[in-house]
Amino acid sequence: MAKTSAPEVALPKARSNWEILHRALRYFRPHWKIATANMACALLSLVFSFAFPQVTQFIIDDVVGHHEISLLTPAIMALLAAYLARDFFDSLRIRVNSIFEQDVIYDMRGEIYGRLQRLPVQSFDKTSSGDLMTRVMDDVTAVERVVIDGFEMGVISLVSVLAVGTILLFKNAELALYVVVPVPILIIGTLWYTKAAHARYRMQRLAAATMNALLSDNLQGVRQIKAFGQEDQEGARFAVYADALRRRSLAVMNLWSIYSPAMNFVGSLGIILVLIVGGPLVVSGRMTLGELVGFIFYLPLFYDPIGRLHRLNQMFQAARASSERIYDIIDTTEEGANRQNAVALSQPVRGDVRYRNVSFSYGTSIDALKDITLHARPGQMIALVGPTGAGKSTLVNLLLAFYQRSAGKIEIDGQDIDRVTIESLRGAIGVVSQDVFLFNGTIRENVLFACGDATDEDVFAACRAANCHEFIQALPDGYDSRVGERGIRLSVGERQRISIARAILKNAPILILDEATASVDTATEHLIQEALQRLTSHRTSFVVAHRLSTVRHADQIIVLRHGEIVERGTHAELLKRDGLYRMLCRTQDETYLDGDMGRILSFASSNVPKTMAAEHER
Ligand SMILES: Nc1ncnc2c1ncn2[C@@H]1O[C@H](COP(=O)(O)OP(=O)(O)OP(=O)(O)O)[C@@H](O)[C@H]1O
Ligand SMILES: [Mg+2]
Repeated sequence: MAKTSAPEVALPKARSNWEILHRALRYFRPHWKIATANMACALLSLVFSFAFPQVTQFIIDDVVGHHEISLLTPAIMALLAAYLARDFFDSLRIRVNSIFEQDVIYDMRGEIYGRLQRLPVQSFDKTSSGDLMTRVMDDVTAVERVVIDGFEMGVISLVSVLAVGTILLFKNAELALYVVVPVPILIIGTLWYTKAAHARYRMQRLAAATMNALLSDNLQGVRQIKAFGQEDQEGARFAVYADALRRRSLAVMNLWSIYSPAMNFVGSLGIILVLIVGGPLVVSGRMTLGELVGFIFYLPLFYDPIGRLHRLNQMFQAARASSERIYDIIDTTEEGANRQNAVALSQPVRGDVRYRNVSFSYGTSIDALKDITLHARPGQMIALVGPTGAGKSTLVNLLLAFYQRSAGKIEIDGQDIDRVTIESLRGAIGVVSQDVFLFNGTIRENVLFACGDATDEDVFAACRAANCHEFIQALPDGYDSRVGERGIRLSVGERQRISIARAILKNAPILILDEATASVDTATEHLIQEALQRLTSHRTSFVVAHRLSTVRHADQIIVLRHGEIVERGTHAELLKRDGLYRMLCRTQDETYLDGDMGRILSFASSNVPKTMAAEHER
């Protein structure tokens, strides 16, 4: 059976209306001026909209009622002016509102992206990039909508309900009482909707994030999908999650389809009541016809804002579900939050690295590393070898503080890496990681990634050392060639050499090469090895390699298996032992051990004069 499980997307922590409101208001503070302008325009527009019922009443009672036809023209002119003013301020409001809106979106995206970058690596192991994309793009927009439009809509609606309510009370207190009869029902309906909608919106956001997670996963794996002929299956799988989103969205809208008209209906009951009670009042002469018509024309100005408050509640519940997803990220503890008193790594970094009884687990019951103790002296090359899954990459990633150890200590020049700043720690380490990643830009940008102010000459020199200068120059656009997403337009070996050039350019005192030359041919590898040897001769390096010939001359070879160090020593020492290393060597190169042992050993040691020195040191 093909893959059927849903992409992993977590449901965020539920949060109260108050928390969401309170936190949303925070985004206002820096923009209070534009917020005020927005509100002023909205209020002015609202005030001028009151002219219509007022002028209508005047025309019916004073112009028509008293046959004062000469007053009609000024009344019409006044109404025209009021309409013009209303729409002018509305136009201004839309403009100001858009600026305000985009400013807040910009702030929020900046904050959430800034946060994302500072999350521990572990968070990214758990959350899919499609889910995170949804949060930065869609969820931010949903939250912003309520912050801006909601704020404006809420205030204007409240003001207009109160203002119109007061006007109605003054016009005719008795009739005004009937107007508010439906209000308690409206409040109860709103409370019911708030609860029901929140749960549905949460599920809808989850469905959207799940679909996006699948989408981004499949777009990245499009070659695999094609190669394994899984287009139809994946299409069907996508349809399942797109359908889930369709159903979740419908669930939200269905609720709204009941709530919104029901509330409108209840509101209309007020108009009916006014007609029932108002009609006889006019007939009995206790109220003029103009007053009743004016009163009725005011009613939409009372009930429409109540309807808008309902829509606002809908928006707010949608935004609440989105906010929860955003605040989950914003509230995640930042990487390095436990390093308040951290100091910079003392300069210059000599590169003395010690692991003391380090253990680590990825959160499963199996330890990825168990009681690792090792010492790399300044300038030494430490090779990490062992079967796949042994924990080699994990071991070097701990030096970069990508993950928090469960036990033990790591020191650089005697300084505990937990007590130094993340920037200074990572600044001291150059990395060529196992899964090479190039950014979607030019080759030059990718090499310059670690060291933006390097000159072209520096870039060329680094590329020459990584043996990629020639092939780059042969490209039509040379160093300005674009590499495509993840560097897809280059071969794996080419990507690997560019990432080596990037690490060379960084010129850090400690170097991590995790399978750095695994994907290049042996002739190229030989050239890169020479360059790396020059590079590693005066810096501490950790070299992970499956091809054991590349680490023969290391000062110390550490053999890992199941997260434990099972052997350590120089190539020559390890060959003498009948252990895992010797077995690995034998499987890689039968002739290697069957041949003249003395010749092999002398080759190994003559290539690395440092090895002997290191042995003496021990
Ligand atoms: N991000 C992760 N989350 C959970 N488990 C992981 C993660 N990365 C690695 N592991 C597990 O930790 C163990 C060690 O993995 P590691 O990548 O360190 O092996 P390795 O020695 O580098 O292997 P290889 O030679 O294949 O690169 C493996 O069993 C692997 O399944
Ligand atoms: Mg690895």
